[in-house]
Amino acid sequence: MFENLEAAPPDPILGLTAAFKEDANPDKLNLGVGVYCDGDGKTPVLASVLEAERRLLERGDSKTYLPIDGSPEYGEAVRQLVFGSGNNARRVTVQGPGGTGALRVAGDFLHQLYPGARLWLSAPTWANHPKVFAAAGLETAEYPYFEAATNGLDFDRMLAGLEAVPAGDVVLLHGCCHNPTGVDPSADQWRRLAEVLAERRIIPLVDFAYQGLGDGLDADAAGLRVLCDLVPECLVASSFSKNFGLYKERVGALTVQAASAAAAAAVLSHLKVCIRTNFSNPPAHGSAIVTTVLQDGQLRQQWEAEVAAMRERINGMRRTFVARLAERGVARDFSFIERQRGMFSFSGLSADQVARLRQEYSIYIVGSGRINVAGITDRSVDRLCDAIAAVL
Ligand code: LMR
Repeated sequence: MFENLEAAPPDPILGLTAAFKEDANPDKLNLGVGVYCDGDGKTPVLASVLEAERRLLERGDSKTYLPIDGSPEYGEAVRQLVFGSGNNARRVTVQGPGGTGALRVAGDFLHQLYPGARLWLSAPTWANHPKVFAAAGLETAEYPYFEAATNGLDFDRMLAGLEAVPAGDVVLLHGCCHNPTGVDPSADQWRRLAEVLAERRIIPLVDFAYQGLGDGLDADAAGLRVLCDLVPECLVASSFSKNFGLYKERVGALTVQAASAAAAAAVLSHLKVCIRTNFSNPPAHGSAIVTTVLQDGQLRQQWEAEVAAMRERINGMRRTFVARLAERGVARDFSFIERQRGMFSFSGLSADQVARLRQEYSIYIVGSGRINVAGITDRSVDRLCDAIAAVL
């Protein structure tokens, strides 16, 4: 059966980490996958997370199964973090193994219950989005988003693209820190988007994987909250990989807002079928950490300070990166990197330049030119800027 099987291509993001590990160059630099590094180039376990784990170990709860939809306390904590003090009567939350798992549950649900619905993705979007939804059987299409000439949002074309989306289709929006561009709509643009989606009866699916890493925990949720106030129905996929540093614990959630509490309950019943026939029920450890931190005043304060420190380091590194490139006299204006938000910068480097960075300098960035700014340190920034100046 397997004799003539051709190997699948490596994953465009996680495949880079595998290649990086094989690279013998002691000065190699992995700026591919979106993982935060501190000033020493390490991915730390947050102190608030360690303390929550200590408490969980001390409590020694049972390892019996969680409910299919996960822990109810976790669901409540997620909704409060995403929506603030809003009314959650029409919202249900299920736990997912990571934000990706939550997106897959959304894809399964949409495809199984609404087989005619198409999912619209921004151009560009996270390299895994089309694949996750294709694996769920969902048909995808694209709407305009990024404008290379300005390194900004092409809002007029985005709106025009959304005007062409039929009612009942689903549009995936990035809640903040757009991956891969780092370019987000302004507050006014979020409101306009919300109006268009509400008028046209298009359902938003918000991928919310970077809350807190742009401008703040509430600031990053502001657009999404306006949107969910205006549209009756929406889906939000959360991830705690980045803002809790819980990457390998796989902790995420899917929250669905329906037009009534009864409809939300029906949605939940179907989400549970999707989960039961996929991973049966979710892993408990990561969600228990998140719940413990979010429910405890002191731990929450400590965590919020840790998220702020990550955010400030990233935004400070954006400024350093731009300044060091300018010091090298590169002709291109990279000041847009300072205006982008989140872990990533869409550098505008070509596929050839990306390949040269890897081959000649052992610097790994995603083929689209996406650089993980959260992985640059004071020690590596000069080497990176020298290499970029050389390939330019
Ligand atoms: C990324 O875009 O680098 C992250 O979301 C990690 C991943 O799974 O691709």
